[in-house]
Amino acid sequence: MKELLILAVVTFFTLVTYYLVEPFAHSQMHKHIESEGFAYKDIPALTKKGDATRGADLVAANCTGCHGIEKAGMPAPMDPVSAAQSFGVNPPDLSNAGTVFDAKFLAALIKDPAKALMVEHKFDPAKGKMHPMVPFYGAGGDLDQEVADMVAYLQSIAPKQEELTPAMAFETACGRCHAIHYPYNKDGKLHAAWTQIGEKPAFKKKQDELAFEQKVLDYQDALKKYMGTLPPDLSMYIRSRGEHYIKTFVENPQNYLKGTAMPRVGVSAESAEKVIEHLEDVGDSKRHERESVGRYVMIYIIIFAIFAILWKKEVWRDLH
Ligand code: HEC
Ligand code: HEC
Repeated sequence: MKELLILAVVTFFTLVTYYLVEPFAHSQMHKHIESEGFAYKDIPALTKKGDATRGADLVAANCTGCHGIEKAGMPAPMDPVSAAQSFGVNPPDLSNAGTVFDAKFLAALIKDPAKALMVEHKFDPAKGKMHPMVPFYGAGGDLDQEVADMVAYLQSIAPKQEELTPAMAFETACGRCHAIHYPYNKDGKLHAAWTQIGEKPAFKKKQDELAFEQKVLDYQDALKKYMGTLPPDLSMYIRSRGEHYIKTFVENPQNYLKGTAMPRVGVSAESAEKVIEHLEDVGDSKRHERESVGRYVMIYIIIFAIFAILWKKEVWRDLH
């Protein structure tokens, strides 16, 4: 009886201590934010059905002065460093944009970049501070129809969701601002490192490598001036912050860092999963291996448990 009481008291205090240390302290230090599933509820749904053929002309006339579209045979008008020196950041290639970004987000972005990206606190036309991506004011017809046409065109040239690799999703949505110095897998090959100006090639000559690094530094200088801070290298973020944090942060960076310069990038729910997968592949490159080892360990434990039960029966039979 006395032992039971002691056990109850010890259990009670252990649980209270555990609660204070873990869930309670955790909830005080990190507020919990639920994901809205990348629904972007503040953005109105598309009301017009787009025509990709008309959209092609509109995009060629209004977007390719700043953006490349490799897929459509249109190279970037400037190299990344010069682009960052004029805009603060290199405008991403739009080949995959139709799949990576949410459709209604794209429409909102085309009409009012600062608002869709949630960086109006940084860009206020009243104070003469314009966002470097100029809004599309219309080409003379119905504005919503023209915007829907451009979105339809971007979707028509983009790869299907199944063809979009995790690395492609990352490069289009995050790669102009964030480097990943860890090697990563892409198309079954191990790649060296991602820099904001692209993948770091394998150089044979030290001079070429230094020239590349100089360009990365020049790019980062421009980016730092534009953002106010250099966006962090994301190699280890999946480990230090975890999947839930990164997802809800990307969905709306203002959730956690009020006034931050990181835009709401507007990825679709499926592409967000791909971005997370890419971060897991680089931050935890042994993940797939470990998961398969985990399965074998489980099988081992089950077999071991069966033997243990059989053995216990055997021993007890002798005792009775
Ligand atoms: C004057 C140059 C300019 C023009 C014209 C322009 N953009 Fe951009 N665009 C930019 C810059 C700069 C960025 C990056 C802004 C940033 O990251 O802060 C950008 C970003 C984007 C992004 C990525 C947004 C995100 O959520 O990450 C998309 C998609 C895009 N533009 C599409 C378009 C389309 C479509 C058009 C034509 C209707 C267009 N842009 C016209 C400069 C331009
Ligand atoms: C236009 C540039 C830009 C783009 C595009 C961008 N980020 Fe960022 N990101 C930033 C900046 C700037 C910061 C630093 C924010 C701060 O300290 O206020 C940041 C910070 C972060 C952080 C750290 C948050 C923290 O708690 O410290 C994570 C994680 C992150 N970004 C993930 C992403 C992912 C994933 C994408 C693509 C889906 C992305 N970012 C796209 C500029 C960008």
